Amino acid sequence: MSELAQIVKKLLEGSKGILAADASTPTLTKRFEKIGIESTGETRRRFRQLLVTTPNLERYIGGVILYDETIHQNTDDGINFAEYITNRAIISGIKVDQGTEPFGESEEEKVTKGLEGLGERLSEYKGLGAKFTKWRAVITIGEGIPTRECIEANADILAQYAHENQEKGLLPIIEPEVLIDGDHSIEKCEEVTKETLKVVFDSMTKYGVDVTGIILKPNMVLPGKDSGQIVSNEEIAKTTIRALRNSVPTEVPAVVFLSGGQDAISATERLNEICKGKNNLPWEISFSFERALEGPVMEIWKGRQENIFSAQKALLHRAKMNSLARKGEYKKELEDEQ
Ligand code: 13P
Repeated sequence: MSELAQIVKKLLEGSKGILAADASTPTLTKRFEKIGIESTGETRRRFRQLLVTTPNLERYIGGVILYDETIHQNTDDGINFAEYITNRAIISGIKVDQGTEPFGESEEEKVTKGLEGLGERLSEYKGLGAKFTKWRAVITIGEGIPTRECIEANADILAQYAHENQEKGLLPIIEPEVLIDGDHSIEKCEEVTKETLKVVFDSMTKYGVDVTGIILKPNMVLPGKDSGQIVSNEEIAKTTIRALRNSVPTEVPAVVFLSGGQDAISATERLNEICKGKNNLPWEISFSFERALEGPVMEIWKGRQENIFSAQKALLHRAKMNSLARKGEYKKELEDEQ
């Protein structure tokens, strides 16, 4: 087994998933504002510390995706975050894209920045202990969009990113996210997700990326959040599986879903539905949630020292629920166990 395939195996072994603790500073600042926390280097450090010091986290979480600021910070005990995580037998990863910018003249479409200077940053992160990285591209559905050109531009950049990582021995997590924003139907999301994934894998071939040494992090196929369309979890799972089967090579070792703005319990229920009975999928299926794992934690924490214990309990609970969902063993009644 290749070194990258071994990292995939270790990240998801047992029934583990990945904790995305890589919200950029502007994004985390918005989340903090909602609950009245001032966003400073120190409050962001404390939040990330709360997450990674959660007792028993390693039972359900095999990897943590850090952000550039965090990988340069230390825990209260003066241990670098990446080192601390590694010491807990969890694998450290890092988001290496630098956010999005408008695609050409478009007001709504975006491409992801960060290829410039990527090689040096990868070497630095590797030196700090990162074993895998992540790059997010966003595809927006709206009037006349996404355009094929925007999908291709993002796919091309994702493939260059993946190739550069593999050359350095780092496992790339490829995240082409079709956004939930908008009033589109689930059918439209399916069509765009399929097209996006196909174009992404065509680009992987073009740049000679070894697809046995990547993880795909896609969106679940969902109706737009303003569509008013009601779709059962079973239908969401069916549609998501159909989109993946149609466009993801069977050689890809693992697919880990992002939560994309779903509430925490819905994300777990849908993951469970996808994994139930295994559906005979050729890939390992797991989760790499940010909001669906951390939303409830932030609500409890509210920046207060005295809430840390309960907030960590909530994180461990969500991680456990999603770990059960990965095996198709989640049941709503288990939510009361917390
Ligand atoms: P969400 O689970 O909140 O979609 O975040 C996943 C992620 O890594 C965003 O880049």
